[in-house]
Amino acid sequence: MATSLLLFLFFLPLVKPDSDPVQDFCVPDTGSSPVELTKLSSYPCKSPTNVTADDFVFSGILSPGNFSAETGFAGISVNPVQFPGLNTLGMSFARADFQPGGVNPPHYHPRATETALVLLGKVYSGFVDSTGRVHARVIEKGEVMVFPKGMVHFQLNVGKSMATIYGSFNGQNPGLIRLPVTVFGSGIRDAVLEKAFGLTEEELEKLKKRFEPKDLIVDD
Ligand SMILES: *[C@@H]1O[C@H](CO)[C@@H](O)[C@H](O)[C@H]1NC(C)=O
Ligand SMILES: *[C@@H]1O[C@H](CO)[C@@H](O)[C@H](O)[C@H]1NC(C)=O
Repeated sequence: MATSLLLFLFFLPLVKPDSDPVQDFCVPDTGSSPVELTKLSSYPCKSPTNVTADDFVFSGILSPGNFSAETGFAGISVNPVQFPGLNTLGMSFARADFQPGGVNPPHYHPRATETALVLLGKVYSGFVDSTGRVHARVIEKGEVMVFPKGMVHFQLNVGKSMATIYGSFNGQNPGLIRLPVTVFGSGIRDAVLEKAFGLTEEELEKLKKRFEPKDLIVDD
């Protein structure tokens, strides 16, 4: 008895899969009012007879988003708010475009692993694991890199032309924590940042200016 219990515990899966949807899909019936991602479950699903193929097609990443002058990067995040057909399916995605030299600054997604497929160009791409080791290299058109959930990652266009990436997330609300803005644009008291990063008042002022809070609300 005890032995079989031990065996059972031993073979328990170490990671839990996503919970399964309890129906084929649930396109939320939200009317025309703006919707927040975390409130989607409060809407009824559209009746299956009212759902059309259009509910499962998204045409909002045909072209790049708006490029940031500072970084040469444009990102469009797509979750069930922009694309209601994704709702309850445990996925979301993003399009990212880079001018030559453009950078997607270090950031992480607290609630999803990401695979990034290069559609165009050559991108130096990597993440840092929890031991502080960086795993990075140049990936090219057709190659895919995985960024494990919660790991800080970044990308830099090292080619001479534009680069485009399609990122896919195994969660409908991956979250986006951008390190520079989170650290220097969030209003943490100066004394903390000066001491923590060994910065003078002037150095800190410069960083705070660059990462002013407006940058917190950009692409999702
Ligand atoms: C289907 O959509 C129509 C028009 O929006 C609406 O009047 C009707 O109540 C819907 N049917 C169901 C079963 O939800
Ligand atoms: C780009 O900027 C324009 C003007 O501010 C805005 O209307 C549009 O929604 C933005 N596009 C994206 C993909 O964020």
